[in-house]
Amino acid sequence: MSITRVWIAGAGGRLGSALYHRFSGNTDYKLVTSDRDVPIEDAREAGRFADLNHPDVIINCAGLTDVRACEEKPEEAYKINAIGARNLAVAARRIDAKLIQISTDDVFDGDDDAALCEFDDAHPTTMYGKSKYAGEKLVRELTDKHVIVRSSWLYGVGSYDFVDRVLDNAKKDGKVVLPEDEISSPTSADALAGFIECLMHTREFGLYHASCDGSCSRAEWAREILRLNGMDSIPVISAAENTELRPRFTLLDNMMLRITGLYQMPDWKTALADYFSTKKGGAHK
Ligand SMILES: NC(=O)c1ccc[n+]([C@@H]2O[C@H](COP(=O)([O-])OP(=O)(O)OC[C@H]3O[C@@H](n4cnc5c(N)ncnc54)[C@H](OP(=O)(O)O)[C@@H]3O)[C@@H](O)[C@H]2O)c1
Repeated sequence: MSITRVWIAGAGGRLGSALYHRFSGNTDYKLVTSDRDVPIEDAREAGRFADLNHPDVIINCAGLTDVRACEEKPEEAYKINAIGARNLAVAARRIDAKLIQISTDDVFDGDDDAALCEFDDAHPTTMYGKSKYAGEKLVRELTDKHVIVRSSWLYGVGSYDFVDRVLDNAKKDGKVVLPEDEISSPTSADALAGFIECLMHTREFGLYHASCDGSCSRAEWAREILRLNGMDSIPVISAAENTELRPRFTLLDNMMLRITGLYQMPDWKTALADYFSTKKGGAHK
């Protein structure tokens, strides 16, 4: 097999770190990575990096993922999540690279109680969701060789996340307070990285939903995190309202994965158990 040159933009984050761990040391890949040292919203910087390294595949894991920061600074959200995606799409087209653009379940408004597939219309209500959806549209318009991958409730090493917050709150306060009515599917960055590696070697293009199988509420997710860490006695109390500034019901249906038979995402509980066993085994720092 010939060597695949891969650029991971946002390599220090949750998904970027999982991809880096997956590919580094594998001689089938030549990796180049970037974070804020190559600000994706800067067309010249992003273009120059692409021209210099000439990747076969660009994986855009970079983004402003802090939903509160997106609400407070909408222009910053559009700059990074939309214009950044546009710049990588333009660079990818110029060097004939495949662009894998990572997006989110927050492109849906979450008002209904049915799982959402790739053929459902997006209708974002948060600034994070709106800016990510704008990024999707620009990628679609600007380069044919693209795959947009929407996922949900990502966790992994790299950034402080929900899993870390639950464990910290449990230790500090002796309880965790979370909504029972916010539903989606927790997805481990490692599991998503497995699908992204598969995508790199296919001729599949277009839009894919890729969340772990099954669904739960934020509170149920927290209970499972505590159980796997021997902290079952810590109560998870129902929050009076959704405190996460996120749409309520954004469970993704991975319909395109089923139709194409391309990949099977693991069940969310299995992926969460794997995450902790790998972490405890010291494979991740
Ligand atoms: N987290 C979720 O629950 C979730 C769910 C579904 C989809 N997604 C999407 O999946 C992708 C990866 O998410 P993640 O959770 O791995 O994100 P993350 O942990 O927040 O990582 C994002 C990375 O992008 C970098 N970055 C931020 N602004 C940048 C810029 N202007 N130029 C270059 N790099 C920049 C960050 O660097 P700094 O750390 O220095 O800011 C960080 O390393 C994102 O596109 C996100 O929208 C996330």
